[in-house]
Amino acid sequence: MDDKLAALAAEVEARAQQVRDERELDELRTSVLGRKGGRLSQVLAGLGKLPKEERAEFGRRANEAKARIEASLEHARRRLADAAVEQSLARRYDVTFDALPPHRGSLHILRQTLEDVASFFRSRGFAIVMGPEVETEYYNFEAMNIPADHPARDAMDTFYVGPRTLLRTHTSPMQVRSMLAYPPPIAILVPGKVYRRDALDARHAFVFHQFEGLQVDRGVTFAHLKGFVTDLCRALYGEDRRTRFRPSYFQFTEPSAEVDVSCAVCEGRGCRTCGGAGWLEMGGAGMVHPHVLRAGGYDPETYTGWAFGLGIERIAMVRNGIDDIRLFTENDPAFVEQFA
Ligand code: PHE
Repeated sequence: MDDKLAALAAEVEARAQQVRDERELDELRTSVLGRKGGRLSQVLAGLGKLPKEERAEFGRRANEAKARIEASLEHARRRLADAAVEQSLARRYDVTFDALPPHRGSLHILRQTLEDVASFFRSRGFAIVMGPEVETEYYNFEAMNIPADHPARDAMDTFYVGPRTLLRTHTSPMQVRSMLAYPPPIAILVPGKVYRRDALDARHAFVFHQFEGLQVDRGVTFAHLKGFVTDLCRALYGEDRRTRFRPSYFQFTEPSAEVDVSCAVCEGRGCRTCGGAGWLEMGGAGMVHPHVLRAGGYDPETYTGWAFGLGIERIAMVRNGIDDIRLFTENDPAFVEQFA
């Protein structure tokens, strides 16, 4: 009997070293330890035939053999598990492979556009100032010479956030705020968000970016405005872009003009990009109205100035052939990464 136990334990140990997968291991386990018909139970069945005095010793040995068998099976199970891990590692990872370069973020195309604008202004000695997006009716309208009954004040166009408090509809309120903060002469760039109650479509957004240029000094004329804006458009669009001033009307400038830049695609002849006009509208400009200078505490008899307001999205669209203003805020990586 002892021999049979030892032989069985040795055999299981040897076979456990050979099993190649979980299924073979299970088969081996059932064939040896299975309650019905397992090889160990078969050997133990002989127990009853032994003389009484040998039974205790046999029981001890049987337990030993069983423990040895279980250890062999457990050893095999671990070997298989380790091998499985090794295999999956080998399949998925090659630790000798060159690491991929980390993904770097980049400036959004609107920020890049603003940086180009800012460096132009900086190179001409302008200070860059920022103003509040939540503005009072006074700075947004009254100080800008827009009377209370003017349609631009209509709730259709303006987001009110409280009594006489609104989201600024343009960066122009910073003209008066800056004049009040700094004595003349002044030369500033004011970039920032502006808000309008417009329905969202390919060309309109209810929040977009503008930048305001303002220069006030003794003897500043419309010629200075034309020269500055023409240079700016050349810097932004290329040396052969032409700039055009059309008579227009703003309450806060006199005279006023609408600034156009020649279409880069058709060079002024008219095409689909410019809707046949040959020119693209960039924004408004003009000589600062005496009312505005006075609101800023500057004497209009001594000082004159020019101001203009351009849309940053507009510039980015024209420069990069972007045909939908919504793309700027949707944050689709396929769009954003084109300008990375
Ligand atoms: N504030 C005007 C607008 O938003 C643009 C402008 C600025 C016009 C300065 C003239 C002078 O349309």
